Amino acid sequence: MEKINEYVAKQQQEVCAFIYDLNSLTEHVQSLLNPLPEAVQFYYAIKANSDEQVLRALLPHVYGFEVASMGEIEKVRAVSETVPIAFGGPGKTITELTAALAHNVTLYHLESQLQMQRLNWLAQEQGKTVEVLLRVNPSFALPDATLQMAGKATQFGIEQSELEGMLSELSRYPNLRVVGFHFHCISNNLQENTQIKAIEKYITTALQWQQQYDLELSTVNVGGGIGVTYQEQQRPFDWSSYCEQLSALLKRFPELNIAMECGRFVSAYCGVYLAEVTDVKRNHGENFAVLRGGNHHFRLPSSWQHNHPFRVLAREEWPYPFTRPELNDAPVTLCGELCTPKDVLAKGVVVERLRAGDIIVFEKAGAYGWHISHHDFLSHPHPQRVYL
Ligand SMILES: Cc1ncc(COP(=O)(O)O)c(C=O)c1O
Repeated sequence: MEKINEYVAKQQQEVCAFIYDLNSLTEHVQSLLNPLPEAVQFYYAIKANSDEQVLRALLPHVYGFEVASMGEIEKVRAVSETVPIAFGGPGKTITELTAALAHNVTLYHLESQLQMQRLNWLAQEQGKTVEVLLRVNPSFALPDATLQMAGKATQFGIEQSELEGMLSELSRYPNLRVVGFHFHCISNNLQENTQIKAIEKYITTALQWQQQYDLELSTVNVGGGIGVTYQEQQRPFDWSSYCEQLSALLKRFPELNIAMECGRFVSAYCGVYLAEVTDVKRNHGENFAVLRGGNHHFRLPSSWQHNHPFRVLAREEWPYPFTRPELNDAPVTLCGELCTPKDVLAKGVVVERLRAGDIIVFEKAGAYGWHISHHDFLSHPHPQRVYL
């Protein structure tokens, strides 16, 4: 907080910034890695925050990086020529797969028969054999979570019944070495017990296929999807209980590597988004604060339709010859500066005091903040992006 105050005190213009604390990021990731069982290969899913500084900070700690595009492959290779890269995503094109081969991607998560055919063909042309996990869209029940990518009709992965039909025909892809399966099924799961149950099901299903189809099976990727609490009443995911349960589970499967590819849980906590209140007003009986910023910088709250957690940083200076509007002990809706009623970051939240010129500090803004937002809509200046 002290560093945020120092930053704010130095600003000459309206404050609008993301501040990322790289020390807290590395301490946090180390605290996640320490209790994990040895068999876990921990990838960081860079889609959550792919800034070079973040990748450099995480590089010495994580096993590898999970990417979902050619651009992300290039970002990873810009910080390391050798770190393992796992390449996922439902839309891998010939152009992307060609670039992936050129950049020595280590593992491909393939999501359809056509992706398998494309990669096999390209690898054959180059005389290479590449390691692959097949991404499964399972038929079995999955835990509840904020977003569900599988276990139902989505564009992700290969449907379980179709996959089972393909497993006896893997020899049709001589340049793909299928070494396991990939299950990224849910996002923002806050319950460690259901996460463990899902992992157990992923592993036992993969082992059953190994036996049934006489497959090589070294790795089961259990995805990311560990949740972050954005609402006060939510109970946080208990990482230490999760690691204990995972250690007990993996003792039953000593031959397997488990890969994880977490994004949100790694980088959410390292960032805050600061936005100055530019106006406070009343409209049709409700209070609104308009911010220098909004969902073109920080789309997460409007995308998930939640009230994003925030603090008010009070500022005493008001060097103008006109009245400073303010609210006291009243509910307020925090809006961005865009010309759309969808630009809302928190709705009807009671604040003790809020004035034009104060600053809203949105917490847990390090993941899926700037990186999922439509930065140039209305051509407002971009926020400053500061790395402590
Ligand atoms: C394939 C895949 N892996 C990993 C992740 C990271 O998920 P999370 O940030 O929820 O951990 C995502 C997120 O969308 C994904 O699509």
